[in-house]
Amino acid sequence: METEKGMALQVIYLVGLTFMFYLSLAIAQEEQNNLQTYIIWVEKPVSQNSFAQSHEDLESWYQSFLSETSENSNQLMKQRMVHTYRNVAIGFAAKLMPEEVKAMEKKEGFVSAHPERILPLQTTHSPDFLGLHQGSGLWEQTNYGEGVIIGVLDTGVAPYHPSFSDEGVSPPPAKWKGKCDFNATLCNKKLIGAKDFIGSSKGKPTGSAPFDQDGHGTHTSSTAAGNFVEGASAFGVANGTAVGMAPYAHLAIYRVCDFGCAEGDILAAMDAAVEDGVDVLSLSLGGPSIPFYGDVIAVGAFGATQKGIFVSCAAGNSGPYHGSLSNEAPWILTVGASTTDRILNLTSTPTSTILFNGAASDPLAPKVATFSSRGPNTASPGILKPDIIGPGVDILAAWPVSVDNATKSNATFNIISGTSMSTPHLSGIAALLKSSHPDWSPAAIKSAIMTSANVLNLAGLPIVDQRLNRADVFAIGAGHVNPTKANDPGLIYDTQPKDYIPYLCGLNYTEKEIQIITQQKVNCSQVGVIPEAQLNYPSFSIKIGSNESQSQYYTRTVRNVGPASSTYNLDLLVPHKMGMSVNPEVLTFTEVNQEITYHVEFIAEDGAGKDGVAFGQGYLRWVSDKHNVTSPIAVIFDSK
Ligand SMILES: *[C@@H]1O[C@H](CO)[C@@H](O)[C@H](O)[C@H]1NC(C)=O
Ligand SMILES: *[C@@H]1O[C@H](CO)[C@@H](O)[C@H](O)[C@H]1NC(C)=O
Ligand SMILES: *[C@@H]1O[C@H](CO)[C@@H](O)[C@H](O)[C@H]1NC(C)=O
Ligand SMILES: *[C@@H]1O[C@H](CO)[C@@H](O)[C@H](O)[C@H]1NC(C)=O
Ligand SMILES: *[C@@H]1O[C@H](CO)[C@@H](O)[C@H](O)[C@H]1NC(C)=O
Ligand SMILES: *[C@@H]1O[C@H](CO)[C@@H](O)[C@H](O)[C@H]1NC(C)=O
Ligand SMILES: *[C@@H]1O[C@H](CO)[C@@H](O)[C@H](O)[C@H]1NC(C)=O
Ligand SMILES: *[C@@H]1O[C@H](CO)[C@@H](O)[C@H](O)[C@H]1NC(C)=O
Ligand SMILES: *[C@@H]1O[C@H](CO)[C@@H](O)[C@H](O)[C@H]1NC(C)=O
Repeated sequence: METEKGMALQVIYLVGLTFMFYLSLAIAQEEQNNLQTYIIWVEKPVSQNSFAQSHEDLESWYQSFLSETSENSNQLMKQRMVHTYRNVAIGFAAKLMPEEVKAMEKKEGFVSAHPERILPLQTTHSPDFLGLHQGSGLWEQTNYGEGVIIGVLDTGVAPYHPSFSDEGVSPPPAKWKGKCDFNATLCNKKLIGAKDFIGSSKGKPTGSAPFDQDGHGTHTSSTAAGNFVEGASAFGVANGTAVGMAPYAHLAIYRVCDFGCAEGDILAAMDAAVEDGVDVLSLSLGGPSIPFYGDVIAVGAFGATQKGIFVSCAAGNSGPYHGSLSNEAPWILTVGASTTDRILNLTSTPTSTILFNGAASDPLAPKVATFSSRGPNTASPGILKPDIIGPGVDILAAWPVSVDNATKSNATFNIISGTSMSTPHLSGIAALLKSSHPDWSPAAIKSAIMTSANVLNLAGLPIVDQRLNRADVFAIGAGHVNPTKANDPGLIYDTQPKDYIPYLCGLNYTEKEIQIITQQKVNCSQVGVIPEAQLNYPSFSIKIGSNESQSQYYTRTVRNVGPASSTYNLDLLVPHKMGMSVNPEVLTFTEVNQEITYHVEFIAEDGAGKDGVAFGQGYLRWVSDKHNVTSPIAVIFDSK
């Protein structure tokens, strides 16, 4: 995040390096005083009655792990508790010595523990580029995201900034239970929640105000839901109206990052946000790939998804290399970054640049940013990631201070780049969709965003990267977000929280490991086991072993959310060296919300994976007179 401070063009490539630096720094500091914060997962306490445990029951259950594992007094051990979780995970964070953790492992109900990791943090013209216009279209249909609450986990916010004015914003919905720890005059109908989790202890936010000392959080929050501010510019460029994706949505700010973001604080903020009543969570941060049960963002996001909350996370800034993603779980929307058509500087722009009304415009936009992390998905190769790309290069948005001394008012802006910037674009768009379809599940919103995405650029050609090479499916996922089309997708691939359990069993996690994610005991032989690619996901990722001659069969179920009477025909682009068949090839709906299941067979041709081609790609598209519903297909040829 340090690297995202300056002007974008110099910014990006260092994020991976800063991560290592922060990690070693954190470990070194902890070793000095011999206490290290651990994240500890435990089982649900056994309850006398069948009702859910009270908060007090959970607290004393967690405390019992501390008091029974040390010779220190109970009082002393109580002070070592950093966070207690109750909504999105069963467990706690505590400062412990390795011997104490060892002792704890013997206690009944213990599941696992790991030392806390420190994760790195990974506008405005972009609304116009995305087809959002004042007084018409999607903004008018959704009333600019009215009534939806976006929770942003970041470096805090600059509450004085006019992007957080509540002009035109309604009061928060009655379900809102959060609070705003800024002085009362700074909180308003836009900024309805603000809590600081850095340096907090005993499971409670510090109570101090989450002022943004960095700028990153102010930038991401205003990108998601900043209000209209006229005459916005930085470095004398991009002079126009700055506005976020959902200008009338509410913001709840959770400060979890300063010099990096501690896992315990991230999970505490997610836990609080769920209880507060947010609808969307936006996390412009993330670490390298690890199994989902060891990844607090994946664990917290599962808990949030179970409660109907949409979670949007950064894909990471470790591109352009394959297998460089963060935040790979299928219940998360994983967001890569691309350029917009506005060129602020690119002297380095290709000859295709044209000048329009004095501003340079790029007909090859959107291009995938070089830094945007690429698939395949390391933690779950059977799920294609990233899911989507959105604007993340040279994004102008609110900033706490003037970066060029040109601005006298509080309307100060900065231009920076990263998947940190594309993520809040998608969070805001999810808020718009939630506002117009309050009954859609998080998976339904994700499906709508993915199946309607653009795979062609402004010139009508396949999307390229910043080096003008054709961008593959591991760079763009389903493609570039098209908010207007996402609001009317025709068909939906839905997934309920319980559907992820057979999928987790199929990842060959132990039942204890699965329990960390699901917060309940799981018996894989009872719920069944499915291969990853059988999850009802709006894309396909197929792994072909060397010499594999067997067919792989999958099903998908689509729900009709378009006109009652709709007929869809199959349009298939079969990947390199593959055979495919789909049955049926015509989907005929007669009712709204009717579901139809179709079958897909994949079979490798002779010599597949032996010609030096490691990956294949194609698509499966359902076409009606009103809708194109497209699922990208990735094939990974395993040469081992
Ligand atoms: C908050 O308000 C109190 C009382 O009006 C004032 O003393 C304090 O300085 C204010 N704090 C900030 C950070 O503005
Ligand atoms: C931005 O545009 C407005 C109106 O066109 C103009 O008054 C203002 O001086 C411009 N600001 C900058 C920094 O160029
Ligand atoms: C524009 O880009 C060129 C080449 O990347 C760079 O040398 C120059 O410093 C940039 N100018 C600004 C104003 O950032
Ligand atoms: C802005 O003003 C401050 C204080 O006058 C000065 O230290 C700083 O160098 C200036 N920054 C720029 C970019 O001009
Ligand atoms: C601008 O910000 C300062 C704090 O930095 C605040 O005291 C002041 O009221 C703000 N001005 C406006 C017009 O909001
Ligand atoms: C899980 O184990 C089964 C049986 O050994 C194997 O076929 C499958 O590929 C494994 N799945 C993953 C994701 O490793
Ligand atoms: C899981 O379910 C199977 C089949 O019902 C049963 O045989 C087995 O004992 C169960 N395992 C556990 C750990 O309960
Ligand atoms: C794949 O087939 C080739 C040629 O038939 C054989 O040499 C090789 O050992 C096989 N590999 C595996 C993993 O079975
Ligand atoms: C579907 O895609 C085709 C081919 O790309 C295009 O011509 C058509 O306009 C699209 N239909 C809709 C409803 O977007």
